[in-house]
Amino acid sequence: MMRFHVLTIFPGMFDSPLSLSIIARAQKQGLVEVNLHNIRDFTHDRHNTVDDYPFGGGPGMVMKPDPLFEGVEHVRESESLDENVPTVLMTPQGRQFNQRIAEDLSDLSDMVIICGRYEGVDERVRQNLVTDEISIGDYVLGGGELAAMVVIDAVARLIPGVVGSAESPANDSHTTGLLQHPLYTRPSVFRGMEAPDVLLSGHHAEITKWQRWEALRRTLERRPDMLESTELSPDDRRFLDELRDERERDD
Ligand code: ADE
Repeated sequence: MMRFHVLTIFPGMFDSPLSLSIIARAQKQGLVEVNLHNIRDFTHDRHNTVDDYPFGGGPGMVMKPDPLFEGVEHVRESESLDENVPTVLMTPQGRQFNQRIAEDLSDLSDMVIICGRYEGVDERVRQNLVTDEISIGDYVLGGGELAAMVVIDAVARLIPGVVGSAESPANDSHTTGLLQHPLYTRPSVFRGMEAPDVLLSGHHAEITKWQRWEALRRTLERRPDMLESTELSPDDRRFLDELRDERERDD
């Protein structure tokens, strides 16, 4: 069981992603828990103020430190969280999220996630509350909520039992360090377009080889950078060399 403790000013944004599909099932099965905490509940003024003007001027607003500190402290105490449980800030300034980070996070029992908003959070939150900062890519969202949902989705499906063995993530793009091979389903001929014979042949070894080669082909075409950091067998290397030779001949 893994528990995500999310601090946000828009808990309602999480409703439909969490109430549908794989994550909904995982929560019902008790494999995943997502606890939403409204940052406004940790304010003490009449207007429940969570943001303020930046010192020194400049555009936009800054998330105040006090509701965030109180919110995280409340969650850590009320849930008796171990001091090793990370507090992650969703921000475009964080380390870029990927499958490896998702795998690492999926080993945790708990994770506190702060969804940033406005221009950003007071720097003291970064320095003295947060233990990790994650970005989901080089673009700016209206807030960290969608980014947090991306992380929760990617991490949750790696928790044993969340995704059935039939839908196993073992062959997913990125899990293997390669993009996934092309997929086909019925009908075998659709509007004159045929599925590859080998997939219908029943020769398991041949199918596995085809899938590996097509994954290599696709990765070479679309994400050659991934080939630098993935484990390749001598057969893989031979096949890639052939593909590169073919390409040079065609150029
Ligand atoms: N908040 C705004 N943009 C973001 C991004 N790209 N990743 C994580 N959090 C964000």
